[in-house]
Amino acid sequence: MDRMMENRKFMRSEFDREDIISDQEQGLPQPPLQKPVPEGAEIIDLPKADTAAFAETNIYACLKGRRSRRKYINQELSLKELSFLLWSTQGVDRKMGNNYATLRPVASAGARHPFETYLWVFRVEGLKKGIYRYLALTHQLMFIKEVEELEEKANSATLGQSFVGASAVTFVWSCIPYRGEWRYNVTSHKTMLLDAGHVCQNLYLACEAMGSGTCAIAAYDQRLCDELIDVDGVDEFTVYLAPVAKY
Ligand SMILES: Cc1cc2nc3c(=O)[nH]c(=O)nc-3n(C[C@H](O)[C@H](O)[C@H](O)COP(=O)(O)O)c2cc1C
Repeated sequence: MDRMMENRKFMRSEFDREDIISDQEQGLPQPPLQKPVPEGAEIIDLPKADTAAFAETNIYACLKGRRSRRKYINQELSLKELSFLLWSTQGVDRKMGNNYATLRPVASAGARHPFETYLWVFRVEGLKKGIYRYLALTHQLMFIKEVEELEEKANSATLGQSFVGASAVTFVWSCIPYRGEWRYNVTSHKTMLLDAGHVCQNLYLACEAMGSGTCAIAAYDQRLCDELIDVDGVDEFTVYLAPVAKY
Protein backbone atom coordinates (compact mmCIF):
# COMPACT_ATOMS: atom_id res chain seq x y z
CA MET A 1 0.00 0.00 0.00
CA ASP A 2 2.83 2.40 0.88
CA ARG A 3 4.37 1.77 -2.50
CA MET A 4 1.03 2.51 -4.22
CA MET A 5 0.65 5.79 -2.38
CA GLU A 6 4.22 6.69 -3.22
CA ASN A 7 3.62 5.92 -6.90
CA ARG A 8 0.42 7.98 -6.95
CA LYS A 9 2.49 11.04 -6.10
CA PHE A 10 4.37 10.51 -9.33
CA MET A 11 1.12 10.88 -11.30
CA ARG A 12 0.44 14.32 -9.82
CA SER A 13 1.85 17.60 -11.08
CA GLU A 14 4.77 19.25 -9.31
CA PHE A 15 5.13 22.11 -11.75
CA ASP A 16 4.05 24.53 -9.01
CA ARG A 17 7.13 23.80 -6.87
CA GLU A 18 9.36 26.83 -6.65
CA ASP A 19 12.08 25.16 -4.57
CA ILE A 20 13.30 23.02 -7.46
CA ILE A 21 15.88 24.53 -9.78
CA SER A 22 16.58 22.55 -12.93
CA ASP A 23 20.01 22.03 -14.47
CA GLN A 24 18.85 24.16 -17.39
CA GLU A 25 18.06 27.03 -15.00
CA GLN A 26 21.50 26.56 -13.43
CA GLY A 27 23.09 26.98 -16.85
CA LEU A 28 24.41 23.42 -17.14
CA PRO A 29 25.03 22.14 -20.69
CA GLN A 30 22.14 20.52 -22.51
CA PRO A 31 22.42 16.79 -23.28
CA PRO A 32 22.66 15.92 -27.00
CA LEU A 33 19.41 15.63 -29.01
CA GLN A 34 20.41 12.15 -30.12
CA LYS A 35 22.71 9.43 -28.85
CA PRO A 36 26.04 9.68 -30.69
CA VAL A 37 26.82 7.32 -33.56
CA PRO A 38 29.93 5.19 -32.93
CA GLU A 39 32.77 5.52 -35.42
CA GLY A 40 32.57 3.00 -38.26
CA ALA A 41 28.93 2.08 -37.58
CA GLU A 42 26.99 0.44 -40.41
CA ILE A 43 24.47 3.07 -41.58
CA ILE A 44 21.46 2.48 -43.82
CA ASP A 45 19.79 5.41 -45.60
CA LEU A 46 16.01 5.28 -45.42
CA PRO A 47 13.76 6.24 -48.32
CA LYS A 48 11.91 9.52 -47.91
CA ALA A 49 8.78 9.14 -45.79
CA ASP A 50 5.78 10.02 -47.93
CA THR A 51 2.23 8.88 -48.58
CA ALA A 52 3.25 6.22 -51.15
CA ALA A 53 2.91 3.54 -48.46
CA PHE A 54 -0.71 4.48 -47.71
CA ALA A 55 -3.80 2.37 -48.15
CA GLU A 56 -6.02 4.83 -46.26
CA THR A 57 -5.71 8.60 -46.04
CA ASN A 58 -8.93 9.45 -44.25
CA ILE A 59 -8.15 10.33 -40.62
CA TYR A 60 -11.65 9.39 -39.50
CA ALA A 61 -11.24 5.90 -40.99
CA CYS A 62 -7.82 5.52 -39.33
CA LEU A 63 -9.16 6.53 -35.92
CA LYS A 64 -12.29 4.42 -36.26
CA GLY A 65 -10.36 1.37 -37.50
CA ARG A 66 -7.54 1.52 -34.95
CA ARG A 67 -7.31 -1.61 -32.83
CA SER A 68 -4.51 -3.48 -31.12
CA ARG A 69 -3.54 -6.26 -33.56
CA ARG A 70 -1.86 -9.43 -32.37
CA LYS A 71 -2.47 -12.00 -35.14
CA TYR A 72 0.11 -11.43 -37.82
CA ILE A 73 0.77 -12.95 -41.23
CA ASN A 74 4.22 -13.94 -42.39
CA GLN A 75 4.77 -11.03 -44.80
CA GLU A 76 7.66 -8.60 -45.18
CA LEU A 77 7.25 -4.92 -44.46
CA SER A 78 8.77 -2.75 -47.19
CA LEU A 79 11.56 -0.33 -46.32
CA LYS A 80 9.28 2.45 -47.53
CA GLU A 81 6.65 1.41 -44.99
CA LEU A 82 9.19 1.18 -42.18
CA SER A 83 10.54 4.59 -43.14
CA PHE A 84 7.06 6.08 -42.87
CA LEU A 85 6.48 4.49 -39.45
CA LEU A 86 9.80 5.77 -38.12
CA TRP A 87 9.11 9.28 -39.35
CA SER A 88 5.55 9.22 -37.92
CA THR A 89 6.81 8.26 -34.47
CA GLN A 90 10.13 10.13 -34.13
CA GLY A 91 11.13 11.74 -37.45
CA VAL A 92 12.68 15.19 -37.16
CA ASP A 93 11.07 17.91 -39.26
CA ARG A 94 12.93 20.91 -37.87
CA LYS A 95 15.71 21.82 -35.49
CA MET A 96 15.19 24.88 -33.32
CA GLY A 97 17.79 27.31 -32.00
CA ASN A 98 21.36 26.18 -31.70
CA ASN A 99 20.52 22.46 -31.47
CA TYR A 100 18.18 23.39 -28.62
CA ALA A 101 15.17 21.34 -29.70
CA THR A 102 13.58 19.33 -32.48
CA LEU A 103 10.06 19.44 -33.86
CA ARG A 104 8.56 16.09 -34.84
CA PRO A 105 5.15 14.60 -35.77
CA VAL A 106 4.69 13.82 -32.05
CA ALA A 107 4.35 16.33 -29.23
CA SER A 108 6.81 16.20 -26.34
CA ALA A 109 6.86 18.27 -23.13
CA GLY A 110 9.31 21.12 -23.68
CA ALA A 111 10.23 19.49 -27.02
CA ARG A 112 12.73 17.33 -25.10
CA HIS A 113 11.99 14.12 -27.07
CA PRO A 114 13.72 11.91 -24.50
CA PHE A 115 13.55 8.67 -26.53
CA GLU A 116 15.70 6.58 -28.81
CA THR A 117 13.99 4.10 -31.14
CA TYR A 118 15.44 0.61 -31.47
CA LEU A 119 14.13 -2.01 -33.88
CA TRP A 120 14.07 -5.76 -33.58
CA VAL A 121 13.95 -6.52 -37.29
CA PHE A 122 12.55 -9.91 -38.31
CA ARG A 123 11.13 -9.37 -41.81
CA VAL A 124 11.83 -6.05 -43.51
CA GLU A 125 12.72 -5.77 -47.20
CA GLY A 126 16.47 -5.32 -47.67
CA LEU A 127 17.41 -5.49 -43.97
CA LYS A 128 19.16 -8.43 -42.36
CA LYS A 129 17.53 -9.76 -39.22
CA GLY A 130 18.86 -8.07 -36.07
CA ILE A 131 18.86 -5.02 -33.84
CA TYR A 132 18.97 -1.48 -35.23
CA ARG A 133 18.72 2.08 -33.92
CA TYR A 134 16.88 4.87 -35.71
CA LEU A 135 18.93 8.02 -36.30
CA ALA A 136 16.09 10.51 -36.27
CA LEU A 137 18.20 13.57 -37.10
CA THR A 138 19.31 12.14 -40.44
CA HIS A 139 16.48 9.64 -41.07
CA GLN A 140 18.83 6.65 -41.19
CA LEU A 141 19.18 3.32 -39.46
CA MET A 142 22.25 2.16 -37.61
CA PHE A 143 22.82 -1.59 -37.50
CA ILE A 144 23.76 -2.72 -33.98
CA LYS A 145 24.06 -6.51 -34.00
CA GLU A 146 22.73 -9.85 -35.09
CA VAL A 147 21.19 -11.97 -32.35
CA GLU A 148 20.84 -15.74 -32.50
CA GLU A 149 17.26 -16.92 -32.00
CA LEU A 150 16.00 -13.33 -31.95
CA GLU A 151 12.33 -14.43 -32.10
CA GLU A 152 12.65 -16.53 -28.93
CA LYS A 153 14.62 -13.82 -27.14
CA ALA A 154 12.04 -11.19 -28.14
CA ASN A 155 9.24 -13.39 -26.83
CA SER A 156 11.03 -13.95 -23.51
CA ALA A 157 11.82 -10.24 -23.20
CA THR A 158 8.09 -9.53 -23.53
CA LEU A 159 7.10 -12.17 -20.98
CA GLY A 160 5.96 -14.78 -23.47
CA GLN A 161 3.80 -12.51 -25.66
CA SER A 162 4.67 -14.62 -28.67
CA PHE A 163 3.07 -12.33 -31.27
CA VAL A 164 6.13 -10.09 -30.75
CA GLY A 165 8.46 -12.68 -32.30
CA ALA A 166 5.94 -13.16 -35.13
CA SER A 167 6.05 -9.47 -36.10
CA ALA A 168 7.87 -8.04 -39.11
CA VAL A 169 9.57 -5.51 -36.84
CA THR A 170 9.20 -4.52 -33.20
CA PHE A 171 9.72 -0.93 -32.09
CA VAL A 172 11.50 -0.64 -28.73
CA TRP A 173 11.54 2.85 -27.23
CA SER A 174 14.21 3.61 -24.68
CA CYS A 175 14.23 6.72 -22.54
CA ILE A 176 17.30 8.82 -21.78
CA PRO A 177 15.89 10.44 -18.62
CA TYR A 178 18.45 13.24 -18.34
CA ARG A 179 17.07 14.85 -21.52
CA GLY A 180 13.87 15.59 -19.59
CA GLU A 181 15.46 16.00 -16.15
CA TRP A 182 17.82 18.70 -17.46
CA ARG A 183 14.81 20.94 -18.13
CA TYR A 184 12.13 19.75 -15.70
CA ASN A 185 13.95 18.00 -12.85
CA VAL A 186 11.55 15.75 -10.86
CA THR A 187 8.50 16.82 -12.86
CA SER A 188 10.05 15.30 -15.99
CA HIS A 189 9.40 11.64 -15.17
CA LYS A 190 5.67 12.02 -15.49
CA THR A 191 5.89 14.06 -18.69
CA MET A 192 8.35 11.65 -20.31
CA LEU A 193 5.94 8.75 -19.88
CA LEU A 194 3.10 10.89 -21.21
CA ASP A 195 5.33 11.60 -24.21
CA ALA A 196 5.72 7.86 -24.83
CA GLY A 197 1.96 7.48 -25.18
CA HIS A 198 1.94 10.08 -27.95
CA VAL A 199 4.67 8.23 -29.81
CA CYS A 200 2.84 4.91 -29.74
CA GLN A 201 -0.49 6.47 -30.70
CA ASN A 202 1.16 7.86 -33.83
CA LEU A 203 2.43 4.35 -34.57
CA TYR A 204 -1.09 2.95 -34.22
CA LEU A 205 -2.52 5.52 -36.62
CA ALA A 206 0.33 5.29 -39.12
CA CYS A 207 -0.04 1.48 -39.15
CA GLU A 208 -3.74 1.82 -39.73
CA ALA A 209 -3.10 4.11 -42.72
CA MET A 210 -0.72 1.49 -44.18
CA GLY A 211 -2.89 -1.57 -43.67
CA SER A 212 -0.55 -2.90 -40.96
CA GLY A 213 -1.19 -3.61 -37.31
CA THR A 214 0.50 -2.92 -34.01
CA CYS A 215 -0.07 -3.45 -30.30
CA ALA A 216 1.33 -1.36 -27.44
CA ILE A 217 3.40 -3.42 -25.01
CA ALA A 218 4.06 -2.27 -21.45
CA ALA A 219 4.38 -5.78 -19.96
CA TYR A 220 8.00 -6.68 -20.55
CA ASP A 221 11.12 -7.89 -18.75
CA GLN A 222 13.22 -4.79 -18.07
CA ARG A 223 16.60 -6.53 -17.94
CA LEU A 224 16.07 -8.71 -21.01
CA CYS A 225 14.81 -5.82 -23.15
CA ASP A 226 17.69 -3.57 -22.06
CA GLU A 227 20.21 -6.33 -22.79
CA LEU A 228 18.84 -6.86 -26.29
CA ILE A 229 19.29 -3.19 -27.20
CA ASP A 230 22.62 -2.81 -25.34
CA VAL A 231 21.59 -0.07 -22.89
CA ASP A 232 22.71 0.23 -19.27
CA GLY A 233 19.27 0.30 -17.58
CA VAL A 234 20.16 3.44 -15.59
CA ASP A 235 20.94 6.35 -17.90
CA GLU A 236 18.95 4.71 -20.68
CA PHE A 237 16.32 1.99 -20.45
CA THR A 238 13.37 0.50 -22.29
CA VAL A 239 10.00 2.10 -21.53
CA TYR A 240 7.61 0.83 -24.21
CA LEU A 241 7.45 -1.55 -27.17
CA ALA A 242 5.21 -2.19 -30.15
CA PRO A 243 5.39 -5.04 -32.70
CA VAL A 244 4.29 -4.20 -36.27
CA ALA A 245 3.18 -6.54 -39.05
CA LYS A 246 0.58 -7.20 -41.70
CA TYR A 247 -2.37 -9.03 -40.20
C1 LIG B 1 0.07 1.60 -22.02
C2 LIG B 1 -0.45 0.36 -22.70
C3 LIG B 1 0.15 -0.85 -22.44
C4 LIG B 1 -0.29 -2.02 -23.08
N1 LIG B 1 0.38 -3.18 -22.88
C5 LIG B 1 -0.03 -4.29 -23.53
C6 LIG B 1 0.70 -5.52 -23.41
O1 LIG B 1 1.73 -5.60 -22.75
N2 LIG B 1 0.23 -6.59 -24.10
C7 LIG B 1 -0.89 -6.54 -24.89
O2 LIG B 1 -1.25 -7.55 -25.48
N3 LIG B 1 -1.59 -5.39 -25.02
C8 LIG B 1 -1.19 -4.27 -24.38
N4 LIG B 1 -1.85 -3.09 -24.58
C9 LIG B 1 -3.01 -3.04 -25.48
C10 LIG B 1 -4.33 -2.99 -24.71
O3 LIG B 1 -4.60 -4.26 -24.17
C11 LIG B 1 -5.45 -2.53 -25.67
O4 LIG B 1 -5.20 -1.20 -26.07
C12 LIG B 1 -6.81 -2.61 -25.01
O5 LIG B 1 -7.18 -3.95 -24.75
C13 LIG B 1 -7.90 -1.96 -25.88
O6 LIG B 1 -7.95 -2.57 -27.16
P1 LIG B 1 -7.73 -1.73 -28.50
O7 LIG B 1 -6.37 -1.13 -28.45
O8 LIG B 1 -7.87 -2.72 -29.62
O9 LIG B 1 -8.79 -0.67 -28.55
C14 LIG B 1 -1.41 -1.94 -23.96
C15 LIG B 1 -2.00 -0.70 -24.21
C16 LIG B 1 -1.52 0.45 -23.61
C17 LIG B 1 -2.13 1.77 -23.97
